Amino acid sequence: MTVKIAKSWHFNKRPKNMIESDTFVLKELPIPPLKDGEFLFKTIYLSLDATNRVWLSDWDIYMEPVHIGDPMRGFVFGQIIESRNPNFPVGRYAAGLHTWSDHIITNGDSFDLFPVLDGLDLAETFAILSVAGPTAHVGLHEIGGLKENETVVVSGAAGAVGTIVGQIAKIRGCRVIGIAGSDEKCAMIVNEFGYDAAINYKTEDVTEALGKLCPDGIDLCFENVGGDILDASLTHMKDFGRVVICGLISSYNSSEPVPGPYMFRNLIMRRLTVRGFVILDHADIMPDVLKELASWVANGKLKMPTHIVDGLEAAPNALNLLYTGGNTGKLLVKI
Ligand SMILES: NC(=O)c1ccc[n+]([C@@H]2O[C@H](COP(=O)([O-])OP(=O)(O)OC[C@H]3O[C@@H](n4cnc5c(N)ncnc54)[C@H](OP(=O)(O)O)[C@@H]3O)[C@@H](O)[C@H]2O)c1
Repeated sequence: MTVKIAKSWHFNKRPKNMIESDTFVLKELPIPPLKDGEFLFKTIYLSLDATNRVWLSDWDIYMEPVHIGDPMRGFVFGQIIESRNPNFPVGRYAAGLHTWSDHIITNGDSFDLFPVLDGLDLAETFAILSVAGPTAHVGLHEIGGLKENETVVVSGAAGAVGTIVGQIAKIRGCRVIGIAGSDEKCAMIVNEFGYDAAINYKTEDVTEALGKLCPDGIDLCFENVGGDILDASLTHMKDFGRVVICGLISSYNSSEPVPGPYMFRNLIMRRLTVRGFVILDHADIMPDVLKELASWVANGKLKMPTHIVDGLEAAPNALNLLYTGGNTGKLLVKI
């Protein structure tokens, strides 16, 4: 075995709000010899996702949390460099849910071989096909029941999930309004990702702006943020509108209870359907979802801005970018 030591981040101390300098510790551990059925995976990109912070909380969440002392969990993309597993041959690319490590030994559970798409770099392929693309696709179609020509409002619109949601809704012929945290991000989603209009929630009154941009109301709200931004959309939903609760990032860092939506009454007044989901529950339809996403990528209808940070050592601090709005598009760490 050529590589002898693997570096990985371990959960050390539960953060109160943002990730702190002692939240994780970096450990260097010897790599054991491969057993039958295992392969050695060299991580190329680590995906940083908003839900990473949720896994560190003491909340009752949708899966086993990361416990103190455990290696930190994350979605990884990389290459198989040694193998005693015929399903994962040396040289092939793979992606899976594993740990924040530069080298991983695994039997392949939770890993899949990864396609290399012509004309697309590996970071962009991973960014679209790993979590963000499937989440946007399933959220819009399976959960939100998207129909042609609807009015769709997306919060967190310049992030990984948000940029894909907007592009898919446009492919379906919808009118799409995005909400994001800077003029630059608003300009980007309109000029580069096809959004019809954008609202800067830091400088504009979102409720008022949505009222002007959606005079006939919103059919589908794709919510990534929660809080006041969700309230603004709830205020303007059409009768029988659908609200897809994909994420509530404005509350993930909170150790105190957060207030519920003030416009909750509109669930009755507008007869709304509000539905949350977790993408990991939709593995059964993933082959079809990935096929459609890959075809859109191949014919230039779907693209993804990537925000790449260098080095495994940078991962803990980089995770905070998702909570300060410091990222534009998919946040990855290049190992
Ligand atoms: N349900 C699922 O299965 C699933 C799967 C993947 C992701 N998600 C959810 O999708 C959402 C987006 O995740 P992502 O990984 O793609 O991250 P992202 O959108 O690339 O990055 C997060 C963005 O959220 C915005 N944000 C952060 N704190 C905010 C606040 N307090 N108020 C308003 N906006 C805030 C920031 O953009 P601005 O500069 O615009 O503020 C930031 O760039 C998250 O809520 C995540 O939990 C859900």
